[in-house]
Amino acid sequence: MIEENKQDRLYVIPMEGVVVFPNMETKIKLSKHTGQIVYKLLKMGKNPVIGLTLKHEDQVGSPEPGDLYQTGVLLDVITVQPADNGFLLRAKSLDKVGVSNFEEERGMLTAQYEVIEDKVDLDEENQIEMVDFIKDTVLEMSKNFQGAEQFIKPLLDLTSIMEIMGYILPYLPVSTSEKQELFEMASLRDQCLRVIDLLMKQKESIHFQIEMAKKFSERSNKNYRESLLREQLRVIQEELNEGKGKGKIGYREKIEKANMPEEAKEAALSELEKLEAMGKQNPESHIVRNYLDLLVALPWSTEEAGEIDIQEARQILDHNHYGLEDVKDRIIQHLAVMKLKKEKQGSILLLVGPPGTGKTSLGQAIAESLGRKYVRASLGGIRDEAEIRGHRRTYIGALPGRIIQGMKKAGVKNPVFVLDEVDKLAVSFSGDPASALLEVLDPEQNNSFSDHYLEIPYDLSDVMFIATANSLNTIPGPLLDRMEAIQISSYTNYEKAIIAKNHLLPKALEEHGLNLDLLQISDEALKVIIDRYTREAGVRALKKQLDKIARVASEKIVSGKVETPWEVSGKMLGDILGKEVFRHDDALSGQPPGVVTGLAWTPVGGDILFIESTFMQGKGALTLTGQLGDVMKESARISLSLIRSRLAHAIRKFDFIKSDIHIHVPSGATPKDGPSAGIALFTALASLILGKTVNTKLAMTGEITLRGSVLPVGGIKEKILAAHRAGISRVIIPKENVKDLEDVPKKVREELLFIPVENVEEVLKEALEIDLPKPEFREASLEAALPPAQ
Ligand SMILES: Nc1ncnc2c1ncn2[C@@H]1O[C@H](COP(=O)(O)OP(=O)(O)OP(=O)(O)O)[C@@H](O)[C@H]1O
Ligand SMILES: [Mg+2]
Repeated sequence: MIEENKQDRLYVIPMEGVVVFPNMETKIKLSKHTGQIVYKLLKMGKNPVIGLTLKHEDQVGSPEPGDLYQTGVLLDVITVQPADNGFLLRAKSLDKVGVSNFEEERGMLTAQYEVIEDKVDLDEENQIEMVDFIKDTVLEMSKNFQGAEQFIKPLLDLTSIMEIMGYILPYLPVSTSEKQELFEMASLRDQCLRVIDLLMKQKESIHFQIEMAKKFSERSNKNYRESLLREQLRVIQEELNEGKGKGKIGYREKIEKANMPEEAKEAALSELEKLEAMGKQNPESHIVRNYLDLLVALPWSTEEAGEIDIQEARQILDHNHYGLEDVKDRIIQHLAVMKLKKEKQGSILLLVGPPGTGKTSLGQAIAESLGRKYVRASLGGIRDEAEIRGHRRTYIGALPGRIIQGMKKAGVKNPVFVLDEVDKLAVSFSGDPASALLEVLDPEQNNSFSDHYLEIPYDLSDVMFIATANSLNTIPGPLLDRMEAIQISSYTNYEKAIIAKNHLLPKALEEHGLNLDLLQISDEALKVIIDRYTREAGVRALKKQLDKIARVASEKIVSGKVETPWEVSGKMLGDILGKEVFRHDDALSGQPPGVVTGLAWTPVGGDILFIESTFMQGKGALTLTGQLGDVMKESARISLSLIRSRLAHAIRKFDFIKSDIHIHVPSGATPKDGPSAGIALFTALASLILGKTVNTKLAMTGEITLRGSVLPVGGIKEKILAAHRAGISRVIIPKENVKDLEDVPKKVREELLFIPVENVEEVLKEALEIDLPKPEFREASLEAALPPAQ
C-alpha cells in the first residue's frame, strides 16, 4: 500500500496552532488567500489534501516547506465557507502521512506523501483499560468546573484510543510543538503514556489550587471563597497559558511607569495604601482596584505629534471618500492652519449632514491622515450629565464618563476623538449633558476637565475633537459657537453609483470573504439598486443592499449552485433583494385635483411630500392633519385667504361658506414645519377649487405672504437633490433662490427645469395654466370674497 502511494502528489494546507489526529471531524481556519485557492481546487475535484501544522504561529505570507512539520494527515474536505477575515474549512481527517519533495503549484505547495501506520503495541485489553482510565480522570477533573458536561458528553461516546487523544489534546495546556511531538510518536503505547502523563499533571495542579482554597474557606465566607477560587483559576489559566501571565507587575510599579502628573500620582499612591490596608477579603477592594486600573491605564503624558503632511493627508482623504471636494478642502485648510500654528487641536470641526453621507467615516479618515489614534463616542439620546462626566465613586457600579472612557481606550493623549450625534443630546432632570460637553470642547477649560469618577483634573487639550450631527437646529447655541460647521449634502445618483462601485462594493466583498473572481455586480444593477431599492440622502441603505447580495452570493457560491464569477444584473435583483421598494413613477402619476408635490428639508436630507386636499359640505371650516407644525398651519390659512381674495371672482361656483376644506400632508417619517410649503399649499387649494389637476412631476417650494409674493426659503440644494432622486422634471423656486442653484451639482441642474417665480400669479400660471386678473382687479375681487353681510 505504501508503495502504491509513493508517486502521489497532493496539495498542502498549512494549519496554524492545531494538530489533527486521524479519524476526526475538524475545523481549520484558512487565510483569505489560501481559502480562495483551496476553494478553486475543490471545484476542480482536487480532494483530499494534506494538512500540515505550521511550526510557528503568526506565520505571515505563504509558508515555505521549512515552515511546516513533515508529518500530517490527509484531509477529506467537506466544505469551505467564508468566515471572519478568511475562510473556514471543515474536513474529516483520514490517515497519518509523511511528506517529501515539496513543489509549488498555483500559489500553493504540493508534496508527495506516504501513509504512516503507527505501531500498535497495545493489545485490545490494554487499550480498553487506557480508554477507561483517561475517561475517568477527565470526569473527575471536570467535577470542579461548571458547564463541563458539554465537553464530557462527546468524549464518553468515543471508543478508540486515537480518537480520544485527538479529542482531548486541543484542551491540554501544551504548546503546538509538544502536540506535534506526541503526534509523531510511532508507538501507540508511548503516545498513550504521554497523554496520561499530561493529564495527571493538569489534574494535580487543579487539585492543589482547590485544596488551598478550601483551607482558606474555613476562615472566610462562602462568597469570598468562590471569588478566590475564580481568581486562582484565573492564575492557573494564566500560568498554563505558557507564560503569558508571567511577570505580572504590581500597582506600585505601574503607577511609577504611568508618568502621571504629581496630583494624580499622589492620589493613586494613597488609594494603593488604602487597598493594601484593607486586604483582599474586603468587598470594597475591587472598587479601589477598578479606580487604580483606570488611573494607570489612562494616558497622562504627551507624545510628540509628527509633522502634518498636508499632501499625504489629502491623498488619504481622497482614497477613503469619493467626491465631497468642498468638505475635503475645508478639512485640509483646517489641518494647514493647525500645522502653521503648531496646534494639536485647532478649533472643533462639526460635520453636519444627512445620515450615511460619510461624517463618521471622515472623522476616521482624518485620524488616519494625521497618523493619530481614533476613538469615537456616540452622544445620541444621552440625557444624563453623568454619561459625559461620570458618576461619583460612592455610587454602586459607578463608571467614568464617555470622554474619560474614550481616552482610556485611545491609550494616547492626542487621539482624534469623534463625538457622534451632538444634535441628539437631550436635556432632562438629571442635568444638561450639553453644558458638560461645553467644558470638554472649550480650549480655555479643557486642560483640566473634571470627571466625577476620576476626581483628578484631566488634560484634554491635546485631543482633536470632531463632532457630527444631522442638523444644526437642535444643537444648543453655546455649543454651536465653539464649533466650526462644515456642511455635507446628499449624494446625487451618479455620485452614489461611483461610491458603490469603488468603495462600498469592494468593502462588502471583503467583509464576506469574496472577490471579483467570485462575484460581480453590473453597473446597470447598481443603478437599479440606487433607484428602486433605496431612497436616501446618503449611502447607508445602499451598503446594506450590497451586503445582502454578498451574503446571498456566498451562500450560492459555497453550495456550488452558481458558476463563478457570479454576475448579478438588474433583472436578477428581484430574486435576490425582493420586491422593489420605491417606484417613483407610480407615486407621481394619476393624482386627482387638489394634490401637489412639495419639497421639504429634514435633518435626514431633502424629501418630496404630497400635499392632499379635498372638500365636502360644511360650514367653511379648514381642517389640517398630518403632524404639521404651527408655521405650516399658518401657511395653510394664508393660502386659503389668498385664494378667497384672488380667485373668488373666477370661481363663483365654489361656495366657501358652505364647504369644509381638509388638507392633509402624509407625515412620512418626520414631522414637518416651516414656511417653505406655502406655494404648494396654495397651489393644492387652487387646484382643488378649480377642479384642475397639477402635474405631480412638477414640484415646488417657496414661502407666500398675504399679499401674494413668493419669498425665498432655505435648504434649496437638498430639496433639489431630493426632487431629482424622486424623478421630478420641473421645479418652481422663489426667484431670490436662483443664486443657490450654483451649489447644485451641474449634472442634476441639467436634468431639471427650474421656474423662478416672484408671486402667486406666476405660480398659478405655471402649475395650472391660468392667468389671474391683473392687480387692478384686486380690490374688486376682495369685495367679492367677503362674506355677505349678516
Ligand atoms: N463619499 C464617500 N465615499 C466612499 N464611501 C462613503 C462616502 N460617503 C459615505 N461612505 C460610506 O458610507 C458608510 C456610512 O458612512 P458614515 O457612517 O460615515 O455616515 P454618517 O454620515 O456618519 O451617518 P450618520 O449620520 O447616520 O451617523 C460608510 O461605510 C462610509 O465609508
Ligand atoms: Mg455617523
